[in-house]
Amino acid sequence: MKRLLIVLVVLTLFAAAAAAPDPELERELPGVRQASKIFTSSLSAVLSDSLEEEGAVEAIGVCQETAPEIAKNIFKETGYEVGRTALKVRNAENAPDAWEKKILKSFDKKMAKGTDPSGLEHIEIVTEGEDRVVRYMKAIPTGGFCLTCHGSDLELDLAEKIGELYPKDQATGFKEGKLRGALTIRKVLEPLPEEPAVEPEEVAPKEEVKPAPEKKPETKTSKEPETKK
Ligand code: HEC
Repeated sequence: MKRLLIVLVVLTLFAAAAAAPDPELERELPGVRQASKIFTSSLSAVLSDSLEEEGAVEAIGVCQETAPEIAKNIFKETGYEVGRTALKVRNAENAPDAWEKKILKSFDKKMAKGTDPSGLEHIEIVTEGEDRVVRYMKAIPTGGFCLTCHGSDLELDLAEKIGELYPKDQATGFKEGKLRGALTIRKVLEPLPEEPAVEPEEVAPKEEVKPAPEKKPETKTSKEPETKK
């Protein structure tokens, strides 16, 4: 058992190394993994508490409201935008973009070949317009308790509530252990330093507008800035 564990750990490390060959990605990887971990553990803690204490119908609100709240806090703390997506979504706002769809399909394929979903992740730097963006996805397998709301036999009142809130719901009929979706994280990176500067003598003198000299605050009475709520 221990040996199997070591093999698995080594394999995971190799997979990570293979997915992140460049130093910039290696620098980002711990951050995105941590953001992913915090998001997942916070959400599942709140969700399972709410399921237990208030029941599934009330817990829907947790999925709907708490997930974006947790994401907002992580963004504030780390600059990573965290979301959830899937090939079949409940909330159309979670629908994958082309890049996410591609990665979800690759996760699906790997799982079909027997890869353990808990280690499935992908990190890449992509170009979006002028921006270089680090993008990361981590597979979300369907756990047993997810079936309450994503399985095949939903309780009537729950199915009704979900139908009301999400008339275009596609996220039922999942089986335990199958891919439910993925966590998706992105962050716009600092632009790379410019190519080595052009020879200085070739550069036309810059007609840079000098920043306006700082205004002295004499005209302004020392009014307290409005307090933020
Ligand atoms: C109490 C019902 C409930 C339970 C239990 C539940 N979910 Fe959901 N799930 C929802 C609702 C409602 C949404 C839509 C949230 C939104 O509006 O963004 C959702 C959305 C999602 C999404 C985002 C993609 C989409 O379909 O919109 C993923 C991924 C997801 N759930 C995975 C899971 C997993 C994995 C579990 C088990 C660990 C789970 N859910 C348990 C109700 C539930």
